[in-house]
Amino acid sequence: MFEELIGGWDGEFVATHFDAPSSSWMFVGVHSTALGPGFGGTRMKVYAEPGQALGDVLRLSAAMTSKNAIADIGFGGGKSVLAVPEIPRGDARTEMLGRYADLVASLGGSYVTACDMNTTERDMDVVGERCPHVMGRSVAAGGSGTSAPDTAIGVFHGIRASLAYAFGSDDPSGRTIVVEGTGAVGGQLCDLLAEAGAKLVVSDIAHELARTVAERVGADIVGPADAFDVPCDLFSPCATGAVLNADTIPRLRCRVVAGAANNQLAEAGDADRLAAAGILYAPDFVVNAGGVLHLAGYERSGWTPEQMSARLTAIGDTLRDVFSAAERDGVTPEAAASRIARERIAVARDPG
Ligand SMILES: NC(=O)c1ccc[n+]([C@@H]2O[C@H](COP(=O)([O-])OP(=O)(O)OC[C@H]3O[C@@H](n4cnc5c(N)ncnc54)[C@H](O)[C@@H]3O)[C@@H](O)[C@H]2O)c1
Repeated sequence: MFEELIGGWDGEFVATHFDAPSSSWMFVGVHSTALGPGFGGTRMKVYAEPGQALGDVLRLSAAMTSKNAIADIGFGGGKSVLAVPEIPRGDARTEMLGRYADLVASLGGSYVTACDMNTTERDMDVVGERCPHVMGRSVAAGGSGTSAPDTAIGVFHGIRASLAYAFGSDDPSGRTIVVEGTGAVGGQLCDLLAEAGAKLVVSDIAHELARTVAERVGADIVGPADAFDVPCDLFSPCATGAVLNADTIPRLRCRVVAGAANNQLAEAGDADRLAAAGILYAPDFVVNAGGVLHLAGYERSGWTPEQMSARLTAIGDTLRDVFSAAERDGVTPEAAASRIARERIAVARDPG
């Protein structure tokens, strides 16, 4: 099963470790180091069987290669998955993360990790005690803290660029925007959009959170199951992945999709489905690059807040280039952005 999965993958290596004390599989996938060390978060998750975890590592590490290449941060793509029988807490969690840190350290810096689903700043602090190849630690431990505010700012610039391309004006004022997921990124995005005069409709499976954000920004609330049906100018997925699929795309009543969530397309053909429906899709890995810019910029490149602000604003410029390339080449924005990423990697591999 492992052989079959890895056989169809075009990455560099997968480190596999079975951690007997926690009965967990640990997979680190380094998809590409052409532009720098493979960089991507640590996902902790319960899977029905380890092959699914390996599948996630292969897919998500490849996505990080594209994201980091487009963001131009001097990193390649990687990802790790801790496939646990149940989410560990307390000492068991700390001890397991220590052994995971030893695994990452053993890779000699070819992989650099950070937070992802079910891992936190505090977890990265634990990893950082035994391994230098980690970003996203707490400020107290020498890291740059949460990346969510910068991700939200980057998405805001991406939304403005998308509105400009679709409607001829980047002004969110008076535009109806549905924000799916009002968590760390979605909530702050709502603040930015409300301040810019957008009419907001929000949804979150955490009803109290949705209500708090809605009251703060003067938004309407829609149930999570109905968010796709709301007539609007722009739909912004800021919750989970795979939300754009054969079931949801025909329901969308928007002109544009642009949001923070990772891996929004359930399958590659969904980019074509969106285009066929007349919906401009801003590729997630372009729009949500604020997170990796925050980490790499502050923790590796020593950027000032002014430099960070300029790079977050430039997400809008990158997106304009992607839309123009897509139109010129007659492909979807997803395909155009992937091509730009591949070209950057090819140049790095063979500068001559
Ligand atoms: N935090 C970052 O810097 C960053 C960077 C890049 C990408 N992302 C991606 O952006 C998304 C949001 O990240 P976050 O940090 O805000 O996470 P978060 O966990 O703080 O917020 C996600 C919110 O979505 C809600 N949610 C889950 N399923 C939902 C559904 N079906 N409908 C409506 N709401 C739902 C959750 O209740 C939660 O409030 C994630 O996909 C994440 O991978 C985050």
